[in-house]
Amino acid sequence: MQILARVALLPPMLRTSVVLSLCLLQFQAYAGPTNLTVDDTDAIHWTFVGSWHAITSTARCPATLCLLQPDPDQVYNSTWHDGGLRSGSFSFQGTAVYIYGIDVPASNAANVTFQMGDPDPSVTSFHYAPAPGPSDYVYNSLFFSATNLSANVSHVVNWLLESSLVNGESTLFDYAQVTVEQNAAVGSVSGISGSASGTATSTSTSTTQTSTQRLPILLDSLFMIPSHIRFSAQRSLPRLPANQF
Ligand SMILES: *[C@@H]1O[C@H](CO)[C@@H](O)[C@H](O)[C@H]1NC(C)=O
Ligand SMILES: *[C@@H]1O[C@H](CO)[C@@H](O)[C@H](O)[C@H]1NC(C)=O
Ligand SMILES: *[C@@H]1O[C@H](CO)[C@@H](O)[C@H](O)[C@H]1NC(C)=O
Ligand SMILES: *[C@@H]1O[C@H](CO)[C@@H](O)[C@H](O)[C@H]1NC(C)=O
Ligand SMILES: *[C@@H]1O[C@H](CO)[C@@H](O)[C@H](O)[C@H]1NC(C)=O
Repeated sequence: MQILARVALLPPMLRTSVVLSLCLLQFQAYAGPTNLTVDDTDAIHWTFVGSWHAITSTARCPATLCLLQPDPDQVYNSTWHDGGLRSGSFSFQGTAVYIYGIDVPASNAANVTFQMGDPDPSVTSFHYAPAPGPSDYVYNSLFFSATNLSANVSHVVNWLLESSLVNGESTLFDYAQVTVEQNAAVGSVSGISGSASGTATSTSTSTTQTSTQRLPILLDSLFMIPSHIRFSAQRSLPRLPANQF
């Protein structure tokens, strides 16, 4: 807040330069592949087809309606999607994708088929991994992953829940991780900086120094995430303790 207020006081040209130069510094510091976590509540990337129960900390699903009652504290953001014999998809842009859910007891566990195709080579796999006991849940279970994808096109993972050999029909989706190349972002921002005034950069240094500690957070929220992606920025790691939000 403080830094933004200060930057806002600068003349427009200088302001642009200050922001851009800070931005460049940040991008350099974080260059390289990074995982972003996409909660199941993110409707831009997740599509749940048919009637799914979307469980959040303020919208619990009673046991009369939802047979499966995992511990919310062990679920990412305390939110998950619960569905039976349904389908859906996850769309993203990045070089790898990891889809996570919660494994449920055999009497409930559906056989989930995952499929990727155009623009990617066609691939089909299935996830069927019942939890060990009749009332057990296995959290952060990797349902599907694909790596080595092309960074500059959109990809889609489709899934379908089918009845298992013992008639389990349900699954719980929790979150996904997408690997993005921060180098690509560096390239595009450098391009813009060419049109900004170079002379302002040194002046800006003293303006910003007092607040360096805050910069990563501010700049992350303003600039780090490519505009087509609206994820939570989990730069270092995935498993946020639940209930942090
Ligand atoms: C992203 O997360 C997956 C696990 O979900 C991990 O295997 C992979 O190494 C991570 N990649 C990066 C760049 O951190
Ligand atoms: C966590 O879930 C809430 C809904 O309960 C949602 O509004 C919020 O965006 C989610 N947080 C993240 C980081 O996805
Ligand atoms: C990744 O993809 C490239 C080109 O699509 C291919 O040449 C390479 O062998 C792949 N690497 C792996 C580890 O699959
Ligand atoms: C996407 O990237 C590949 C190399 O990874 C490149 O050959 C291709 O031209 C790029 N396509 C676009 C639309 O930028
Ligand atoms: C799950 O589905 C796959 C693909 O249809 C099939 O090969 C596999 O045997 C099924 N497994 C169970 C336990 O239903």
